[in-house]
Amino acid sequence: PTRSPSIGIDRDLLVVSNRLPDFRHIEGDEGVERKKNVGGLVSALEPALRARGGMWLGWSGRTVPDTDTVESGVIDDRTAQLAWFDYKESWYRDYYSGFCNGTLWPLFHSFPSRVTLSDKGWDAYKEVHEVIAEVASGHIGSRAMIWVHDYHLLMLANVMRRRGHTGPMGHFLHIPFPSLDMFSMLPWAAQILDAMLDFDLLGFHTPAHVANFLSCASSLLPAKVADDVVSHRGRITHVAAMPIGILPDTFQEPPEPAIVEEIDGLMRALGESQLVLGVDRLDYTKGIPERLIAFGRLLEMFPEWRGKVSLVQVSVPSRADVPLYAEQRASIETIVGRINGEFGEAAWVPIRYLYRSYSKAQLSQLYRAARVGYVTPLRDGMNLVAKEYVAAQDPENPGVLLLSQFAGAAVEMRDAILTNPYHADGMARDLDRALRVDLPERKARHGKLLASVQRSNAVTWAEGFLDALSACR
Ligand code: G6P
Repeated sequence: PTRSPSIGIDRDLLVVSNRLPDFRHIEGDEGVERKKNVGGLVSALEPALRARGGMWLGWSGRTVPDTDTVESGVIDDRTAQLAWFDYKESWYRDYYSGFCNGTLWPLFHSFPSRVTLSDKGWDAYKEVHEVIAEVASGHIGSRAMIWVHDYHLLMLANVMRRRGHTGPMGHFLHIPFPSLDMFSMLPWAAQILDAMLDFDLLGFHTPAHVANFLSCASSLLPAKVADDVVSHRGRITHVAAMPIGILPDTFQEPPEPAIVEEIDGLMRALGESQLVLGVDRLDYTKGIPERLIAFGRLLEMFPEWRGKVSLVQVSVPSRADVPLYAEQRASIETIVGRINGEFGEAAWVPIRYLYRSYSKAQLSQLYRAARVGYVTPLRDGMNLVAKEYVAAQDPENPGVLLLSQFAGAAVEMRDAILTNPYHADGMARDLDRALRVDLPERKARHGKLLASVQRSNAVTWAEGFLDALSACR
């Protein structure tokens, strides 16, 4: 790894996101510890980055004491150049855990009672934007295209414009954009909106998120909204719904024998039971306690399922330093224990709870083995697990997707069984229905869902965004 900033005035495209694609941590001078899995966002952007000789800038995953100077550098990757910066410890606390995940995350997901508001968090949010803009300016010329991702960096275009950047800048929000009521809770609502309108293009997952943004912009700013175009301070911003997708074929790759053995072992342990599967980051937006409680209601309301169905819930550790996440974990463990204690028998465990992460290859096999994909977030920008579950199925014997009506994915995936995760009895009835769907109906639903997952995929999404951004100028 080189550790000196590079001046790449020829570079046409810079992608900026808080997380970098395929490594989360830089180990001192010893090199890079790479994550084995390449996420969907990377695969989506890979062709565009390669074609344009682009660069990706994000957090190294490392924090340094506040007294140190923040390091940044560049690593040549086979896909593109990866540029990184460190966090100061206070940024990890006040920006990442604080403003990003303690303020914006719950607010944008419509959990007002979980929102914390602090001036310190807001100051850190602004400070980090200044530093990232400075690092970014060192890597690209002022006319290059910049594509910024997610709620961590809503104000980057504003800071870049102040530094003289004239090239096209677009932003994609990977989480919901909340209603005016909700967004107005933020003391800095107008400042954030004003700064967002320095982007040329703002992309959201669904038309409802677009409508929320437009209603906030026209109510909280002296901005003019006409169709999907906002005029403000003599600038024009295009706003569009562009639902993100996956690379469906990558969920059909033949598994290695060790993985087949592992998943077969799990299925043997389940015996005659049908598998109902939940997979999420451990996050209160995912509705994991509600899902477990509804599974318990299924066993009460439809006792014929006892011994015949098992729920496997995979919860991937996430943001464990934020107190709400630790509380969520404890509450999940209590509910699992209660339901297993109440309904379990010597030969049958109702819920198997796995607090760990799985590789894409392992997940593909788990998805394929599951009769029901139980995807019931209380609120979600999109939810790619829903799409992955569909992509991984055996088309000759597919499972059924039970999907929350509050996931962005529900807009495109009308052939799932939609459910309201706040209503335990209703969700238990929907789960019962999902378990009873016969093979012809399963195939018919799956065929339509798969066609939509294939049509609107990760690559069409990335190309669509970059084309739309170019067309803004
Ligand atoms: C969501 C966000 C991403 C984020 C991911 C993991 O999907 O939209 O921006 O990277 O969660 O969360 P983390 O805090 O670990 O980056």
